[in-house]
Amino acid sequence: MRVVIAGGHGKIALLLERLLAERGDQAVGLIRNPGHVTDVRKASAEAVICDLEAASAGDVRVLLSGADAVVFAAGAGPGSGAARKDSVDRAASVLMAGAAEQAGVRRFLQVSSMGAGQPPRPGTDEVWAAYITAKTAAEADLRARDLDWTILRPGGLTDAPATGMVRLAPPPVPAGTVPRADVAAVIAALLDEPGTWHQTLELTGGDTPVAAAVHSIS
Ligand SMILES: NC(=O)c1ccc[n+]([C@@H]2O[C@H](COP(=O)([O-])OP(=O)(O)OC[C@H]3O[C@@H](n4cnc5c(N)ncnc54)[C@H](OP(=O)(O)O)[C@@H]3O)[C@@H](O)[C@H]2O)c1
Repeated sequence: MRVVIAGGHGKIALLLERLLAERGDQAVGLIRNPGHVTDVRKASAEAVICDLEAASAGDVRVLLSGADAVVFAAGAGPGSGAARKDSVDRAASVLMAGAAEQAGVRRFLQVSSMGAGQPPRPGTDEVWAAYITAKTAAEADLRARDLDWTILRPGGLTDAPATGMVRLAPPPVPAGTVPRADVAAVIAALLDEPGTWHQTLELTGGDTPVAAAVHSIS
């Protein structure tokens, strides 16, 4: 399986690239910074330069040629303001999904966030509100497309080692944290599981092994 990952140098993406390579899949990381090529290659993935805030759908469509799946794992990240929540967390996902449709790449897994799907609470910090608004809009865009999509909403991400144990279910899942390594393992398991198409799933740490958790909602 050839899997193109938007945000290919992200923390989840690098972990996912290694997992995909270990099981014999081919990962392609889309990155905007040429200085990140070495890290992506060290994760056994192909690195392709593509700034998702500057590229056109046509540019991305060409990059998706021959792919079997797309993972949207990009994000404006901590320290960014409201404008980049919109230009990355919303608009770059819309760009990738549109290009996937044009390229005929049907499988699309979007990394969203717990908290998406509802308007931000009144009085919420402006940047958090922009983030949740962007993620909610990106989800809505994806659901309206003719793609085999899955939306994954992790809870708070940590850099703890993988536990292999998660709680994965349609919303609402109680708030919690989850290691990025477990998120990567869940994405890898979801990718080739057709029973998870057209599902929105929330993810935290839990007490179910990843394979069993994915099987239970398929
Ligand atoms: N933090 C949390 O607790 C939390 C919780 C739930 C969900 N999430 C979501 O989980 C996802 C992945 O998280 P993570 O921790 O792996 O993220 P991360 O390490 O911040 O990675 C995000 C990646 O997106 C890339 N990116 C930003 N703008 C780009 C652009 N214009 N073109 C191409 N790439 C671009 C960044 O590249 P640069 O290095 O070049 O900026 C970075 O490599 C994000 O969507 C995040 O919103 C986070």
